Amino acid sequence: MRKSLIFLLVFSVMLVLAGCQLGTSSSDRSITVYSERHYDTDQYLFDLFEQETGIEVRVIDGNADQLINRLDNEGEDTEADVLIIADAGRLHRAKSMDLLQPVHSDVLFNNIPANYRDEDNMWFGLTKRARVLVYHPDRVDPSELSTYEALTEPQFKGRVVTRTSTNIYNQSLMASLIEIMGETEAKAFAAGLTANFARTPAGNDRDQAKYVVEGGADIAIMNTYYIGRMMNSSDRFEQEVANTVKVFFPNQNTSGTHVNVSAAGVTKHANHSEDAIKFIEFLSSETAQSKFASANYEYPVHVNVEIDDLLASWGDFTAQSIPLSVLGEHSYRAAVIMDEVGWE
Ligand SMILES: [Fe+2]
Repeated sequence: MRKSLIFLLVFSVMLVLAGCQLGTSSSDRSITVYSERHYDTDQYLFDLFEQETGIEVRVIDGNADQLINRLDNEGEDTEADVLIIADAGRLHRAKSMDLLQPVHSDVLFNNIPANYRDEDNMWFGLTKRARVLVYHPDRVDPSELSTYEALTEPQFKGRVVTRTSTNIYNQSLMASLIEIMGETEAKAFAAGLTANFARTPAGNDRDQAKYVVEGGADIAIMNTYYIGRMMNSSDRFEQEVANTVKVFFPNQNTSGTHVNVSAAGVTKHANHSEDAIKFIEFLSSETAQSKFASANYEYPVHVNVEIDDLLASWGDFTAQSIPLSVLGEHSYRAAVIMDEVGWE
């Protein structure tokens, strides 16, 4: 018993020493990435990064809330160097929980427009998505459509669907409107929209488009990439839905269509922060951007990079120009307002 304990102790010390050696050896560098994404293209890009730099990329999947909670629980002991999740509202949560560290990188500053990264450089947008109006062409003439705010008008009574107010995408949309029009008008919008709902909010973004095709509503507020996902789904009905509905970019002559990002940040307790920065820089590069974005039918944030054919088929659009950092700052008020007007 005692002998085996001593053996175990010696063995552990040897392992720790071996670990130290690995840590200092340049031929065996690695980073750990907590990512909400799980696409084949990501792995292709990570392999490319590994070939170019010799830095191995270890990925741990999970949804955003799981990964944020895990980081929080692990504290200083975390193995994570990089966090990749969607929605500026969630990134703000990670930032305010003190889970990220600031990064000063000219590469990132050059590749990523200022409004798509955190004002304190805690996170950097890598792909963007638009929250658009999706309509049934048999029941809606696009000339009827103009802005998010116009959906509060009487002609849209009982014709609009979107998901619940607890959903971060809708909270971020509302947060953007608070920033653009102020709280009073944003609240009037939320109340008017709620009054025009075709049903009590339910389901995810795809379910809204499905409900439109099933005839329950005429217009859905949802994220663009779900159209791409459904078009390429193995589910026949999802394909039918995606091929039936049309995309409309609202607020083109006013404040622009609401956009949000998926983004990456270096964790506060990263053990390999320099390599983590190199990794995020790589994902922001022209080489990586179109692949990284098109894996989820999103738009690259890098301005020089071409977009996916499907996205190109919807045409160019003007996005809101607000810094996305403000979405997280207004998300609490956004949730309160939606609750107050009865948006379930
Ligand atoms: Fe999503």
